[in-house]
Amino acid sequence: MRKRVRAFAPATVANVSCGFDIFGFAMEYPGDEVKLTLTNTPGIEIRRIIGDNGRLPLEADKNTAGVAARLFLEKMNLHKETGVSIELIKNLPLGSGMGSSAASAVAVLYGLNHLFQSPLQRTELLPFAMETERTACGSAHADNAAPALFGGFVLIRSYFPPDIISLPVPDDLYCCLIHPDIEVNTGSARKILSPQIKLTDAVTQMGNVAGFVAALCKSDYDLLSRSMEDVLIEPVRSRLIPHYFELKEEALKAGALGCNIAGSGPSVFALCRSEPIAYQVSEAMKDLYDKINLKSEIYISKINQQGPKILED
Ligand code: HSE
Repeated sequence: MRKRVRAFAPATVANVSCGFDIFGFAMEYPGDEVKLTLTNTPGIEIRRIIGDNGRLPLEADKNTAGVAARLFLEKMNLHKETGVSIELIKNLPLGSGMGSSAASAVAVLYGLNHLFQSPLQRTELLPFAMETERTACGSAHADNAAPALFGGFVLIRSYFPPDIISLPVPDDLYCCLIHPDIEVNTGSARKILSPQIKLTDAVTQMGNVAGFVAALCKSDYDLLSRSMEDVLIEPVRSRLIPHYFELKEEALKAGALGCNIAGSGPSVFALCRSEPIAYQVSEAMKDLYDKINLKSEIYISKINQQGPKILED
């Protein structure tokens, strides 16, 4: 059996406008990378983290990568005889709304499963990835973990038990994402949400969720555009993002089908009907943040159908 592996898991966009905690998709890049080495000494060691400016904990039980490795070994009943040494290369910014914690955990789970000749299905790995989200932000939501693990666009039809549905994606759909150089803590961004919603808002949101799914199935861009409306979360969380509504207006004016908050923010994503439109939209968004002197990064990507992958040494 091999003892070492390098694995990659991608950035993800959760919520995707109207689908709070139930919609997510994977991007082609960026993503986190892990180098895993099996050892004969029980226990999980995080040997090194690159790219986090020393901010993530090296204690395995406080780090989503470490927790993922422990859960995997326990499930395989190997934790008493085998250990894992992890090197984590963080390409995803922390607190960015790009699914950073899920990407690290999924890279570890996928890599370890590969080392043991894939005894577990991806659906069996998902609960571990979700559990690591609890370590990161106190809530075991699946809308970053599931797309990072399965790739593509996913619907979490149910949490208890998890029921993950892969949805079709039109070929020329592009995501353009802008990450302003600020951080939003997902745990705090969840606490500001009201636990109750108005019935009329629930009706609007359900209509949009159903419309969104239908639009993906029918490759109906107009319907997709009409359905990218969120009356529950955006009104509250938009306050956490500088000039959010201006940014959205610029994106829509430049041709985006829709624009909303990526996960809990501060990144903002737009869905576009072609790559040239995605570039146009990204320029419009970037210009706005340049004008107010807010540093930002742009990522343009198709929906990543593959999800995690094993990297050659
Ligand atoms: N659905 C989660 C939230 C995603 O919005 O809190 C966090 O990235």
